[in-house]
Amino acid sequence: MASPICVYGNPVLRKKSEPVKEVTAEIRTLADRMLGVMYAQDGIGLAAEQIGHTEAIFVLDVPADADKNEQGLPNNPGVSMPQAFINPEIIGESEETAIAEEGCLSFPKLYVPVERPSEVVLRYLDREGHTQVLNAKGLLARAIQHELDHLNGVLLIDHMTPAMKLKHALKLRGIRKWYKSRGY
Ligand code: NI
Repeated sequence: MASPICVYGNPVLRKKSEPVKEVTAEIRTLADRMLGVMYAQDGIGLAAEQIGHTEAIFVLDVPADADKNEQGLPNNPGVSMPQAFINPEIIGESEETAIAEEGCLSFPKLYVPVERPSEVVLRYLDREGHTQVLNAKGLLARAIQHELDHLNGVLLIDHMTPAMKLKHALKLRGIRKWYKSRGY
């Protein structure tokens, strides 16, 4: 059975991740498990906290079809997916920002607009333990920043204004109740 996804209310989502000391077979297995859980929920990204782990890992499978610029050209040609990002760190970001709606598997059915730098440079270890640097824009840049937030214990709700929280108060309460009743 696939691991369940931890939803809002679960304290593990507020934990700061710990750097991976060595990329071992166990780490690769964890990354594969995360991808499985993500696909089962039709997600495009998942952080370790979301399945109760605190290793600094997130996985992404951002479909190229969904990540195009205004001219209909791919934002990130040549970036292969899926990928596991271990000990990821943003080492550069654009001054230009973009606003788009984001969802999160830990906040079922909640979508809120979030403003973020439109381009980022990410340094990380790949599943072989090699250091990589990735320049990302568009949806990929957004997904990277969303997942990095998770690794820092930052959640979608932290990007919501008081007015947005009020608007979605019922939904948020519903998710917390769901956590309390099922316990993860
Ligand atoms: Ni999320």
